[in-house]
Parts: sequence; structure tokens; C-alpha cells
Amino acid sequence: MTKHEQSLSRLGATDVTASPKASDKLLPTCLSERRSIPPKLLTEPGPNAEDLKTMLDAACRSPDHGALRPWRFITIEGDARGQLGEVFASARKERDPDATTRELEAERRKPLRAPLVIAVGASVTHDHPSVREIDQVLSAGCAAHAILIAAQVLGYGGIWLTGSNCHDPNVKRALGLRSEDSIVGYLYLGTPLKEPPVRERPNADHLRISWSLSESTATF
Ligand SMILES: Cc1cc2nc3c(=O)[nH]c(=O)nc-3n(C[C@H](O)[C@H](O)[C@H](O)COP(=O)(O)O)c2cc1C
Repeated sequence: MTKHEQSLSRLGATDVTASPKASDKLLPTCLSERRSIPPKLLTEPGPNAEDLKTMLDAACRSPDHGALRPWRFITIEGDARGQLGEVFASARKERDPDATTRELEAERRKPLRAPLVIAVGASVTHDHPSVREIDQVLSAGCAAHAILIAAQVLGYGGIWLTGSNCHDPNVKRALGLRSEDSIVGYLYLGTPLKEPPVRERPNADHLRISWSLSESTATF
């Protein structure tokens, strides 16, 4: 087995020697066919306990400057989703006393749009001598991405949503975070009802320049 095949094998590819292009399967499943599933196309069942653990273990392999482990995973399922909706509605009312009944009701319904919601937090170490806060928040973003990828590999679908409920100190407190922590997003996870419409993807060549000090004259 070549070193490359050994590496693929460790990644879980079965019988990598039988297919010299095992990466042809792995890469699409994990990354190049990754896509979000909008909440209206998510249904039961959500990830079971074993799959959820697999997804969170994957997140814990995220790049992590200084091994600070800033990630926090707050899982919200079943009736707790309704309770989170109440938290969203009351936070909205406090932020925006003029919010209409309809707007508050929309806040209440948000967490009910998928069987499982994971609030991904970054519990940031401030004033670290070498690891900037942005590195820690980015690491939590990587963790969120890993969860979505793992979910897709396991046959689930999901989407990463943000908005004011990521920044509201009352919501953070209710979720067990400090007001100085970040919520990088809410991952809505479930089983896809059907394939969502195809979305056009950029050509990476259009986003790349090959740079060197002496040769590159290209700009974006
Ligand atoms: C940090 C972050 C925040 C996002 N917040 C929202 C959001 O609040 N609402 C939304 O419709 N999409 C949001 N998105 C985009 C969706 O998660 C998703 O990427 C988008 O619908 C495109 O689908 P795709 O992932 O299949 O390309 C966010 C993405 C990221 C990375």
C-alpha cells in the first residue's frame, strides 16, 4: 500500500488498493459535493446519539491555534427547541420593543424548523499572548463546518444560519455562554426531504492568482 493509500485507508476508505482513485469517492462525499439543505427541506429523523457523537468528534479535530479548544456545542432537540424559541422571542422583544406579534411568533418558530439545532459557540481566551481572538472564532467556524460535512457523510442534511440571535447577550446567557463569547452560528440538522435546487458554484480559477514577487502583476 502506498503512503497515500495508507492515508486514505485511515480516513475510512474501504479497500483503497482495489480502487487507485478512492479519493474520487471521498472528496465528493466530504467536500466537493457539500451543500446546505434549507430548513424547509429538513425533516425527522435528526441525527441519533451515535451519529451526533461522530459529528462532534469530527468538529474536535478542527484546526486549533494554541490548543485552546474554544469550541462549545449546545445541542437543542425536542421540547427544548420550543424553549429556545421563547428565549429568541423574549430577546427580540427586549432588543426591539416595537416588534410585532408576527415577528415574535417567527422568532418562536425558528428552532422548530429542524429536528436538531446546534448552537456553535467560541469561548474565547482574551488577551492571549500569541493567539488572537479571530483565530479562536475561526476555529469554531471550522468546527461548525466539520459538523455539517460529517452530517452530510452520515446521510443527514443541514444549514448554518446566523442573525441577531448569535449576538444577543440574553440569548448567550440562556445558552450558558458569557456575553463576551461568540455564537458562530446555529446549525439546523435533519433528514433532507428532497434534493434542493442546484446552486451555481464559482470556478476556483477565477478566485486565484499565482503570486510571486518578481512575476505576479495580477490583481483581483
Ligand atoms: C457564517 C455563516 C453564516 C450564515 N448565515 C446565514 C443566514 O443567517 N441565513 C442564510 O440564509 N444563510 C446563511 N449562511 C449561508 C448558508 O449557510 C448556506 O451556505 C447558503 O444557503 C448556501 O448554500 P450552500 O452551503 O449549499 O452553498 C451562512 C453561512 C455562513 C458560513
